Amino acid sequence: MFNFDFYNPTKIFFGKNRLDVIDKQVPANAIVLITYGGGSAKRNGLIDKVKANLGKRKVYEFGGIEPNPHYETLIKAAEIVNKKNITFMLAVGGGSVIDGTKFISLASHCKGDSRDLLKYGFRLITSEMAGEVVPFGVVLTLPATGSEMNNGAVISDGHGKFPVMSDLAFPEFSILDPTLTFTLPKIQVANGVVDAFVHTGEQYITYPADAKVQDRMAEGILQTLIEIGPISVAEPENYDARANHVWSATMALNGIIAVGVPQDWATHMIGHELTALLGIDHGQTLAIVYPALLEVRREQKRAKLLQYAERVWNITKGTEDEKIDMAIRKTREFFESLGVKTHLSQYGVTADKIPVVIEQLRDHGMTALSETHDITLDVSRKILEKAM
Ligand code: NZQ
Ligand code: ZN
Repeated sequence: MFNFDFYNPTKIFFGKNRLDVIDKQVPANAIVLITYGGGSAKRNGLIDKVKANLGKRKVYEFGGIEPNPHYETLIKAAEIVNKKNITFMLAVGGGSVIDGTKFISLASHCKGDSRDLLKYGFRLITSEMAGEVVPFGVVLTLPATGSEMNNGAVISDGHGKFPVMSDLAFPEFSILDPTLTFTLPKIQVANGVVDAFVHTGEQYITYPADAKVQDRMAEGILQTLIEIGPISVAEPENYDARANHVWSATMALNGIIAVGVPQDWATHMIGHELTALLGIDHGQTLAIVYPALLEVRREQKRAKLLQYAERVWNITKGTEDEKIDMAIRKTREFFESLGVKTHLSQYGVTADKIPVVIEQLRDHGMTALSETHDITLDVSRKILEKAM
């Protein structure tokens, strides 16, 4: 196991009817900005309920944070934060609203050009770079990204999606009420299962580091998603299935299974380019890239792929290669069974787009990806060809 530091200050309030904690968790004298997305939270009455729980506090709203939130949108909210002297924000939504709110928090009092915050990649942004941040809480409406309990955001600008990481960007608290996710369209639920699954895989199917607790927790998350994912999609109001989906997604990317182990993230970086260029949903890009990547990287990942085959899918018969083949096939079939297609061609993408994606990866410096930094542009091209 590698040396590690672990820090996660986000308080979690899980379960039905938890909005009442807002009154205790948000400072009594706060001037609050509620942030939300394209309107689902407004239409289903959630914003009104959140406002009711804020009581007499002065409250402003900023709606219209789009999926894959854009710098240009978020910067308008940062202006409101400054104009109205906002002291606390409440993000009501999925990964895009939460990520957007993290960026608003970092950008509002940033001394230099806030666009520079997109340049640090996986380097942690400090208060010297961001200035004073605006604390915020979360009311989660979509189980997928883990953003509700981590220090990362992904922000779109032009034809790029840029990671923004900072220990100043952890939510102060997150309310995870599975019933608030009942209104999701099926495809978003399915995307969420895939996202949590691939987050876990990116931290688990790498190379052995003898991290037994992290491995078994990862295997537990994967097996839970395999068990409850299809139910979570098929039965939108099945509370138990959705509750397990929500907590799996949070646990998949809150840092706990990441400690002391190698991490891949190549599928995410290639997937981000597919979203930025072709507008494919985040979860769908992962369903396209991941099975192809596992195939292309089967030698580098051999030991962990065998462990994955045996412990997650209970594949015990056959040669090593047969076990790996079957595990990758089952992974693809699992995504497909949720209704998420796994081939680029099924999204109407033709092979002539692959060089454009490769150019984007080059422009964004994504030339040495993976846990061993040896996914070059050539390897990315092979992965995308396999994903056709
Ligand atoms: O905008 P509204 O109208 O609310 O509709 C949203 C949106 O269209 C809808 N939705 C959300 N909750 C709903 C609902 N509709 C009905 N009922 C509800 N309860 O769902 C649509 C998608 O929402 P979005 O927030 O974009 O989805 P998701 O949570 O999958 O977030 C994706 C974003 O997170 C980033 C992705 O890159 C992408 O930008 N990621 C963030 C990560 C992180 N911060 O750690 C890690 C991830 O790997 C990921 O990259
Ligand atoms: Zn993801």
